[in-house]
Amino acid sequence: MAYIDEVLKRRTFAIISHPDAGKTTMTEKLLYFGNVIRETGTVKGKKTGKYAASDWMEIEKQRGISVTSSVMSFPYDDFYVNILDTPGHEDFSEDTYRTLTAVDSVVMIIDSTKGVEPQTIKLFKVCRMRGIPIFTFINKLDREGKDPLELLSEIEEVLGIESYPMNWPIGMGKRFLGIYDRYNEEFVHFNGNEDEEIISFEELENGQHPTITENPVYDSSKEELLLLDEAGNEFDVERVAKGELTPVFFGSALANFGVETFFNTFLRFASPPKPRKTNLGLIPPEEETFSGYIFKIQANMNTKHRDRIAFFRVCSGKFERGMSVSITRTNKSIKLNQTQQFMASSRETVDVAYPGDIIGIYDPNVYQIGDTLTEGKENIHYQELPAFPPEIFRKVRVKNVMKAKQFRKGIEQLVQEGAIQLYKQESNEEFILGAVGQLQYEVFEYRLQAEYNVSVEFTNIGNRIPRWIGNKDVDPRLFDSRSLLVRDRHDRLAVLFENDFTYRYFQDKNKDIELIDLMESNDYKSV
Ligand code: G4P
Repeated sequence: MAYIDEVLKRRTFAIISHPDAGKTTMTEKLLYFGNVIRETGTVKGKKTGKYAASDWMEIEKQRGISVTSSVMSFPYDDFYVNILDTPGHEDFSEDTYRTLTAVDSVVMIIDSTKGVEPQTIKLFKVCRMRGIPIFTFINKLDREGKDPLELLSEIEEVLGIESYPMNWPIGMGKRFLGIYDRYNEEFVHFNGNEDEEIISFEELENGQHPTITENPVYDSSKEELLLLDEAGNEFDVERVAKGELTPVFFGSALANFGVETFFNTFLRFASPPKPRKTNLGLIPPEEETFSGYIFKIQANMNTKHRDRIAFFRVCSGKFERGMSVSITRTNKSIKLNQTQQFMASSRETVDVAYPGDIIGIYDPNVYQIGDTLTEGKENIHYQELPAFPPEIFRKVRVKNVMKAKQFRKGIEQLVQEGAIQLYKQESNEEFILGAVGQLQYEVFEYRLQAEYNVSVEFTNIGNRIPRWIGNKDVDPRLFDSRSLLVRDRHDRLAVLFENDFTYRYFQDKNKDIELIDLMESNDYKSV
């Protein structure tokens, strides 16, 4: 197959949702369609205790969760699918955000009984900022949920994106009859088992299915459909590609209803690998010189080997195992021999990969998050990965002062890896750590102990609102424990506000101080 055809069939995406909306259930169905697993109920298996990725970190085993994002790749129809997992819940971390920098589109799952929930909002913001196309699957239609029109307006209002329902549910919960497929113009009947029964609009109109058409929910749903046809948004592929319009699908992941049609339509409209920004302009995937960047480094995936794996997104050219590439940050050349691709339950050696693919590279401690690797374009750098504003802050100190040196070394290494963010308090040089998820602290503590033999003590300073200072100088006397003045590791001044009230109050009193919210800031640079 020609190089360009390989590129165009890649679909690299992440599934985002609030915990319990159905991400695992949906992922399993997709892996099942892709013949990666033979039965569903095995990926997470909370109750059975079977885990997808077997021998990752100790901490992961203890908690039965997947600590850092994994990737699942498989061929499906004419496509080659790469699904990147975005861990949620207590295992939510900066890696969850960083993963979103390596995808070309996103599937957002919403629980129809709950609507748009906080974690979805956070992840959505990142996608929105990066212009990633977003496809919405409204799940659990087999249960009594919110009104579909209400769900649509919630998506539009809370998330600020326009929506286009690709299908429309008729009834829900016990009265769920099926979905009206607006795109393929057919009705899919929900009869409780996994065989989807397709009925043409004509047959319905001719009254051949009275059990459906005589049900009162049928008429009310049809009215809603008419309303959508008249007053709703138009389907526009280009706006979908820019992330301005989200195609919405209704269904039930658990009942496997509407999932396959969703997947097929999604793959058709989801973006193939997109050009990526570098210091030398956009590099399109059609470019045949090999290049890409590291978006995540995972240590100790296998405790026996103490190895580190760098997750690399191929952006241009063909990867071949054994090739020599250069790390443009250090100008060092390195041969890529130990490379892996990830399946649901195993890691396999990968010999070739194309733009859009994610490969795992064995890291003999030479890579950093954000590193560009290339063969032949030695002066390019992919755009720096954004830093995501932490929410949870803690002071940290070493328990035994004799270990201060190892402590500093450990912190430096872990911060460089992107495991956690580090700040120094302006007034007394105390170390403050910042994370987006609780688990980052556990991983940090565990690794300092396991790899540097250092025990640490945390003092919780709670959830804080960080704002970076745009001014060159500020008067340190303006700040106190409710508005901690700190420096980040790039020596930029920031303030950790106790809560939204303190932040607003401070801003009101000090209008001349420019306070920057990273999530809103346009340049959204690494800090
Ligand atoms: P997550 O990965 O987003 O956290 O969600 P997950 O798929 O684990 O689903 C959360 C719960 O919701 C699970 O039930 C799952 O069976 C259920 N679920 C997922 N999709 C649907 C659906 O379409 N309809 C209904 N009714 N339920 C759905 P659980 O009892 O919490 O988990 P488990 O113990 O059965 O694994």
